[in-house]
Amino acid sequence: MPEEFGKEFWEKRWEEAYRDHAAALRGRGPNPHLVAEAGDLAPGTALDAGCGHGVDAVWLASRGWQVTAVDIATSALRHAREHAEVLGTEITNRIDWVLADLSSWTPAEEHFDLVSTHYVHLPASRDALFRRLAAAVAPGGTLLIIGHHPPNQQATGSHAAAQEVYFTAEEVAAGLDPDRWDIAVAETRTRRDTDHNGQEITRRDAVLRARRCP
Ligand SMILES: C[S@@+](CC[C@H](N)C(=O)[O-])C[C@H]1O[C@@H](n2cnc3c(N)ncnc32)[C@H](O)[C@@H]1O
Repeated sequence: MPEEFGKEFWEKRWEEAYRDHAAALRGRGPNPHLVAEAGDLAPGTALDAGCGHGVDAVWLASRGWQVTAVDIATSALRHAREHAEVLGTEITNRIDWVLADLSSWTPAEEHFDLVSTHYVHLPASRDALFRRLAAAVAPGGTLLIIGHHPPNQQATGSHAAAQEVYFTAEEVAAGLDPDRWDIAVAETRTRRDTDHNGQEITRRDAVLRARRCP
């Protein structure tokens, strides 16, 4: 993976983000694509791969999911855990925070009713990661992959350093065996968000939701 998206990068990024924008990070809501795509699912076991601030894991737990939330950054997991603890044991008892590198960490096969990953930048091993995440979905379960859709214009900042972080939902869908998966959503969507500097931005996202055949 490009050096700028390694563990050191993410540790520093989360330290700085919480130092400078802790209130904004704690106040943010769950990813709207997650809410739209998983809001009607019956709760079961969920994997949030690359959970970062943990807001999505907390939202899933608040809906009754038993969540495994994985991230490479100790700093992110510490803040995520603290955020969850404020909400009480009903939430904390439903989340296992796991420090692991997704480029090698392998979840149990066919284990989770929902596997969800949002904006994890592993360009060098992305296809292999998505294969492992897909294999972790239980029969009848849901795979939700959200990422940065390729921009219309030249990107600036850290994303410009690694154009390979971008992908389309169609590309991800093409990697799923049609005999084993029903593609429910494979599209580009926009949403308002706050970046790491607290600035309001519009994101253009690739959204893939697929159901593993029972
Ligand atoms: C852009 S942030 C997205 C965080 C969160 N999923 C969200 O939607 O806001 C990417 C997250 O993936 C984590 N990450 C990056 N590479 C990773 C790896 N190899 N293994 C585990 N987590 C990783 C980072 O620490 C960071 O929290």
